[in-house]
Amino acid sequence: MAPLRESKNMKHLHLLLIISILTLASFKTQQSTIPQPQQSKIDISKMQGGMWVPSELEGMNETEMRILGSNMSASDIYSTTKPSLKDAIVQFNGGCTAEIISDQGLILTNHHCGYGAIQSHSSVENDYLSKGFWAKDKKSELPNPGMVVTFVTRMEKVTEQMFLGTEALQGEALEKKMQQNRETIKKTLQLESWQEAHVKAFNKGNQFYLIVSEDYKDIRWVGAPPSSIGKFGADTDNWMWPRHSGDFSLFRIYADKNNNPAEYNENNVPFKPKHFLPISLDGVETGDFTLIFGFPGRTDEYLPAVAIDQIVNKLNPEKIALREASLAIMDKYMRQDEQTKIQYASKFAGIANYWKKWIGESQGLIQSKAIEQKRTLESQFQKLVEEKGLTQYQNLISDFDKLYVEYGEAAQARDYWIEVVYRNVELLNLTFKLYQLEQTYSKKGEEAFTKQKDQLLKGLKGFYKNYNPNIDQEIFAKLLYMYDARYPTTRLSEEGRVKQWQQTAKEVYSESNLTSYNGLVEMLSGNAKIVIDNLKSDKAYKLGASYSEKFFKELNPNYYAVKDQLDAVQKEYIKAMQEVFPNKRFFPDANSTLRITYGQVKGYAPKDGMEYLPVSYLKGIMEKYKPGDYEFDVSQKLQDLYNTKNFGSYHDNGKMPVNFIGTNHTTGGNSGSPVLDADGNLIGLNFDRVWEGTMSDYNYDAEICRNIMVDARYILFIIDKYAGATHLIDEMKLVHPKK
Ligand code: ARG
Ligand code: ASP
Repeated sequence: MAPLRESKNMKHLHLLLIISILTLASFKTQQSTIPQPQQSKIDISKMQGGMWVPSELEGMNETEMRILGSNMSASDIYSTTKPSLKDAIVQFNGGCTAEIISDQGLILTNHHCGYGAIQSHSSVENDYLSKGFWAKDKKSELPNPGMVVTFVTRMEKVTEQMFLGTEALQGEALEKKMQQNRETIKKTLQLESWQEAHVKAFNKGNQFYLIVSEDYKDIRWVGAPPSSIGKFGADTDNWMWPRHSGDFSLFRIYADKNNNPAEYNENNVPFKPKHFLPISLDGVETGDFTLIFGFPGRTDEYLPAVAIDQIVNKLNPEKIALREASLAIMDKYMRQDEQTKIQYASKFAGIANYWKKWIGESQGLIQSKAIEQKRTLESQFQKLVEEKGLTQYQNLISDFDKLYVEYGEAAQARDYWIEVVYRNVELLNLTFKLYQLEQTYSKKGEEAFTKQKDQLLKGLKGFYKNYNPNIDQEIFAKLLYMYDARYPTTRLSEEGRVKQWQQTAKEVYSESNLTSYNGLVEMLSGNAKIVIDNLKSDKAYKLGASYSEKFFKELNPNYYAVKDQLDAVQKEYIKAMQEVFPNKRFFPDANSTLRITYGQVKGYAPKDGMEYLPVSYLKGIMEKYKPGDYEFDVSQKLQDLYNTKNFGSYHDNGKMPVNFIGTNHTTGGNSGSPVLDADGNLIGLNFDRVWEGTMSDYNYDAEICRNIMVDARYILFIIDKYAGATHLIDEMKLVHPKK
């Protein structure tokens, strides 16, 4: 493996390079404008924010990183000709990130990313959620059917090839030609049988990248701390600083004898990576360089003011209210009963997560004056468009203003359906899946129907394990009432409406066969005709199918009719902004592809007269400790370790660090991403953002946006001192880069 650190001479050379770039930059400006005070002063806050494409780091990104303190070159981070950091990063099960931390395929991700797996291995007798789990050897590692990790083998810009011969085309003809181009690009590739190629749109369709990837499917669970550590502070502390969560879990990638991907097989062997991350024991302090490498899901950094206004004042408030109602009901039942708490823990966390995020996001957008800022930018844009005579761009802002009025209504109607039918009422979500099954029969016939039916039956076994119809009935009554109050189907009074939905809920849940797995199996036995007849006589299905029908025939088409127009304007707007503001830094919005983002360890001032420090310690866990509480309990063992200061070599001058924050621009999907130091050693594990800064998906602001990370030393301390899993520590490579 090639070392990622560079020699002293190389560092020297880079420093020279930076100095000459900076002098050059100030020289250029001095020429054009006359007196320029403090030309050499560089504003490093402007170098933070942005999620960059790893194959394009040479030049600006490399220079910015050096100025922020990095010692790495672009090719240390991403290379296709030698091992690089990229080879240690995987997308974890579609939604999160994980990284390799040993030469035996050991991977680290968040506890909340492994949560589904941890829960599915757990029962009341064997409750890994509350007790934790540590495989004592490789034989005891637990398989996870369906779990996948994805490596990016390479990515390459293919914008020109994608636009080849499209100059004169529009609409369907354009789409067809681009589809052809996409196929041509893929056809010329020489891929291994286990590799896949995708051409992905970046910058809302202004750019394209070819991405070659490899999926490994035999992923086994190695360990996780109990929830009292992995989820300490749970939903109360979620999206908040100061935080004290050991949000990590360990898995291992297995491969066939040739180190290639294979389905689960007992005889598979631990994967041998091209590169794995050494772990630094030196810790962090304010100003240290941090690099995050992972798979951010989605950002919309270039929306116009009118869109932000709509999110804050129209869309977020109603989604928040719907979730709040559903969460209150779940919470009531979870507090009454241990079994229910296990069954609903994951669902509750899933719904609470974005409920809380949206609240913080709206507040942040208001506080940072995002709408006003965007308006100012738009008037500058408009002025320059006119000055430069770019007439093709002159109506973009007014097009946005017009289209967003229509969009708001369509998006809200769709949100209601998504929140009520799809996200919160479980029985309705089930009827939605069955409705799709019915559609498969009418569109594709019996064979496709049977295949999908078998998959559904298999997949839904797990659903019923965690399903409680009583809770669901109460959520149904409340949320359908809210849906009906917003989009009335009758002229009932409020009281009448409440009563009506309670009555309907009672009937649906007592008469439907779909509230139990046996009932479902019964409904789905026989050929398609019989099954569909069965479904059509079921009360829950009838009601659910009518909502799904409405969604497909009305809500979704209405939404996309405007959304497609808006996307076209947005694509043009992004292109136009890059032309109008040639000196501004533009990064492509996140789209679940591999990216890097960089920044520094730094506290922040959430309010006037108040400042947060960047690191939290075990002491803070003891301060938050509430005996017996489901969010803030602390095990006796952790208390003992604290009281005896049994921190091994992981402490910082006698204090045990737990979490820290930095200015890295992250979003959903970055969970589980490694935090790397100036030399590419692991110093932490990304898992969250601070509440005041969750607006970073629309408006990153280096003043207030912070990501939250678990300190690598806390992870090691828990594995070693808390769990006694020293065999795992022995696999890792611990380093002291600062000494
Ligand atoms: N807020 C983090 C993220 O968006 C962590 C979520 C998991 N924790 C929780 N309490 N729900 O995924
Ligand atoms: N917690 C998020 C995740 O799961 C990360 C974030 O949104 O900051 O990816």
